[in-house]
Amino acid sequence: MIYGERVRLRHVERGDLAKFVEWLNDPEVYQGLSIYSPLSVAEEEDWFEKMLKGPQDERPMSIEAKQDEGWQLIGNCSFFRIDWRNRATELGIFIGDKAFWDRGYGTEAINLLLKHGFFTLNLHRIFLRVYEDNPRAIRAYEKAGFIHEGRMRQAEFHDGQFHDVLLMSVIRREWTEELEE
Ligand SMILES: CC(C)(COP(=O)(O)OP(=O)(O)OC[C@H]1O[C@@H](n2cnc3c(N)ncnc32)[C@H](O)[C@@H]1OP(=O)(O)O)[C@@H](O)C(=O)NCCC(=O)NCCS
Repeated sequence: MIYGERVRLRHVERGDLAKFVEWLNDPEVYQGLSIYSPLSVAEEEDWFEKMLKGPQDERPMSIEAKQDEGWQLIGNCSFFRIDWRNRATELGIFIGDKAFWDRGYGTEAINLLLKHGFFTLNLHRIFLRVYEDNPRAIRAYEKAGFIHEGRMRQAEFHDGQFHDVLLMSVIRREWTEELEE
């Protein structure tokens, strides 16, 4: 487990899958993700089995929020396609339980994953792609220390039109300097 103040990250359990399917079928959640068609429990189970056989450091983690009654599952985050020669990776996240949006949980989870990436996996650079029409995510990434570094013009088609995809990244030295301030 990776513990923060109000959030902890743990490996995904089979029992999480039903919630993931519910959330990933919610248009408000999936419009910021690369998912564009309905997802079934069977497909999610298939993803889970493949994920178990994949690289350990790329296994998604479930995000749980501390509540009076215990820890509550609220979403999922992960690194993918870790490039060990360049010590770089891409980050992805969703908070599926919308009651937890805009309350700082996403930023805290991102910060926990960054800490894990920099201080445990010894990564150097962590980047992500985010749609230009996802201001909530962009703001959360900025709060976590991500810097805007580029724009892939009209790289994503949804809602009947093409959208730009923003590239953002954080380098370990910048992130640790921010921690020390
Ligand atoms: C993106 C996501 C992880 C962010 O998590 P979160 O817990 O909602 O984020 P936080 O509360 O830490 O930060 C959100 C910030 O965006 C701001 N925000 C929300 N809507 C906004 C809008 N329309 N315009 C500008 N800022 C907005 C919030 O006010 C908050 O900033 P503040 O703390 O300065 O007030 C979460 O909302 C989510 O999973 N969304 C659906 C899936 C998704 O889009 N994933 C990202 C794919 S790249």
